Amino acid sequence: MTPATKSILPDPVASQPGTGIQAPRLVPPAKGSTLWAPTYDQAPNPLLALEERELEPRLPALAGKFVLDVACGTGRWLGKLMQKGAQAGVGLDLSLEMLARARSKPRLSGKLIQGDACALPVPSGLADVVVSSFTVGYLEDVGAFAAELFRVTRPGARVFVSDFHPSAYCRGWRRTFRSGGEVIEVSSHVRPVGRICETFIAQGCALERCLEPSLGEPERCFFEQAGSAHRFESAREGPAIFVCEFRRTQRS
Ligand SMILES: C[S@@+](CC[C@H](N)C(=O)[O-])C[C@H]1O[C@@H](n2cnc3c(N)ncnc32)[C@H](O)[C@@H]1O
Repeated sequence: MTPATKSILPDPVASQPGTGIQAPRLVPPAKGSTLWAPTYDQAPNPLLALEERELEPRLPALAGKFVLDVACGTGRWLGKLMQKGAQAGVGLDLSLEMLARARSKPRLSGKLIQGDACALPVPSGLADVVVSSFTVGYLEDVGAFAAELFRVTRPGARVFVSDFHPSAYCRGWRRTFRSGGEVIEVSSHVRPVGRICETFIAQGCALERCLEPSLGEPERCFFEQAGSAHRFESAREGPAIFVCEFRRTQRS
């Protein structure tokens, strides 16, 4: 049976089967970034809140460190990493629209480059900490991505990879947002978390931890503010996202 399609956002007017409310328009990732850039981290989003709540406490001390935000979008993580004391950093994304939003943020100007996460225009062995959030599902070749993250990091570096959880997809959630009165769904690959981890391990990364959290009490307010409080209890059943932390090993 095809699962009911639900927005990842607690938006009461997002597509609901049988209600006559519009179905999302499916777009490829590049088009999705263009349309999503103006509101990506402005509109309340419980998944971004959950990810920050889980990932931020796991960051290592950043003083003196070089940080890389791969597929940085509007620079959400690069801004945080710089604010937390990183010595230097770069944010990279394919989307000029996302990068333009990032450029308008304090501390980020001059640290942003356009490029492909699977062919990083970055020297080898540069980064101490890498964050790549809510992106791996958009990539065709996870092996090339993992190999690039291995190449650009120093031995011992921490690599954090987060994304929408595949089981949330199976429960009918989709990567959706609103743009110009339309609900847009961004197409993506749905892969088991274990397979993503194995791909990184095969490249020489050790898995330090893999978190698969569900929405929790701190995210309830997003649903209440959107007038969807009644959807919260079912939305919190099952993992919503995953956050993997890898340590880059010394390849022999
Ligand atoms: C959902 S957004 C996440 C943005 C940011 N990491 C965050 O979580 O706030 C996904 C981002 O991945 C970028 N992206 C998709 N494929 C990419 C690729 N091959 N190389 C670089 N960026 C890519 C998109 O342009 C978009 O900005």
